[in-house]
Amino acid sequence: MSDSAVTGETVLIKNVLLYGEGDPTDVLLGDGVIVAIGADAGTDSGPDVEVIDAAGQILLPGFVDLHTHLREPGREDTETIDSGSAAAALGGYTAVFAMANTSPVADSVVVTDHVWRRGQEVGLVDVHPVGAVTVGLEGKQLAEMATMASGIGRVRMFSDDGHCVYDPLIMRRALEYSSSLGVLIAQHAEEPRLTVGAVAHEGPTAARLGLAGWPRAAEESIVARDALLARDAGARVHICHASTAGTVELMKWARGQGISITAEVTPHHLLLDDSRLETYDAVNKVNPPLREASDVAALRAGLAEGIIDCVATDHAPHAEQDKCCEFAAARPGMLGLETALSIVAQTMVRTGLLDWRGVARVMSERPAAIVGLDDQGRPIEVGEPANLVLIDPDAEWTVHGPDLASVAHNTPYESMTLPARVTTTILRGRITASDGQARVPVRNGRG
Ligand code: DOR
Repeated sequence: MSDSAVTGETVLIKNVLLYGEGDPTDVLLGDGVIVAIGADAGTDSGPDVEVIDAAGQILLPGFVDLHTHLREPGREDTETIDSGSAAAALGGYTAVFAMANTSPVADSVVVTDHVWRRGQEVGLVDVHPVGAVTVGLEGKQLAEMATMASGIGRVRMFSDDGHCVYDPLIMRRALEYSSSLGVLIAQHAEEPRLTVGAVAHEGPTAARLGLAGWPRAAEESIVARDALLARDAGARVHICHASTAGTVELMKWARGQGISITAEVTPHHLLLDDSRLETYDAVNKVNPPLREASDVAALRAGLAEGIIDCVATDHAPHAEQDKCCEFAAARPGMLGLETALSIVAQTMVRTGLLDWRGVARVMSERPAAIVGLDDQGRPIEVGEPANLVLIDPDAEWTVHGPDLASVAHNTPYESMTLPARVTTTILRGRITASDGQARVPVRNGRG
């Protein structure tokens, strides 16, 4: 318990299960931190406290997404930092990393600082800019990583996501440079010579449907190469959206060699496989592609064992005209921020592969540690930052694209009924989403 009454915005969460464990308890938040935990936590809360009755709900540290496409600047017809922040808050996120494949590309401090500042103005989630590794994502010349890292946006992760840093010499230099700057390179592992014209996983389904195949080896050969390059550079490398059983095996091998390599998996690669392609509906087109059921099983097992470190959404909004067209012409990508928790609950919790503490690990603690965020993914303890999410594990809800906060509606889970729902998200002690509504901060009467 605290010694004195709490000042500023205060929130009292009553009857909540921390990490889904033990007996229900109360948690008092004030001045952006956790002030007290226990049956008498509310004693000093003062008159203006907002009380949340969280009976039956679970409290976890707020989620951290290492892989989000917010499309601003350039494609605000599909997502903005404003709408994407609302989607993130509704999905339980307190920090997201906005990928660099915007227009203009986030390969300069002007763009990365803009993304950070705009995220702070919106105030629903910390939007950390990801800087491009190479100028224009062209894979030819390193971008000014040091300038971006020392800007206001303090870029700590660099990625050409959407494109692979395919030239081994450029990748080697990027890794050497990143290690001296103390930043992370996140690789979109796709050997481009093996995926020319590819639109679907190379396998029996694509062959039958007449779709050009994207072989597993295109991903795995880059994962293996980059593990070796990271080893020699004494650097860390992070693998974006791991999609194959072979990548899980390579991660296991590389870790065994003491190589500093981490990896994420998307919710869609944990749930969906290439049988979804039968309809030719391009909502299922994504890069890397949906693979086979055996890959899905290996990814789930790898995540449960910690070989795959974390879940990252690869939230990729696309306009109707870029999806409702011929499969080959459609853009790859799917929405993910608001459905991630439910997909993880369905694929990992309901299957017994993870408990709720495990969910905290893969959706909050590990991603925060991978990029070195010291105020996220923290233990739920007195004095820690109040970046938190409340979950109703027994809720069920039916996904309807137009009801989501994103500008674009390209969810592959349309009309699916999913388990578990985020009820409240809290950023530095302030409620950013509650019962399906994002809550923008009120500042000096500006709203
Ligand atoms: O499916 C994808 N969509 N994969 C990527 O790597 C990029 C993303 C996008 O930007 O739409």
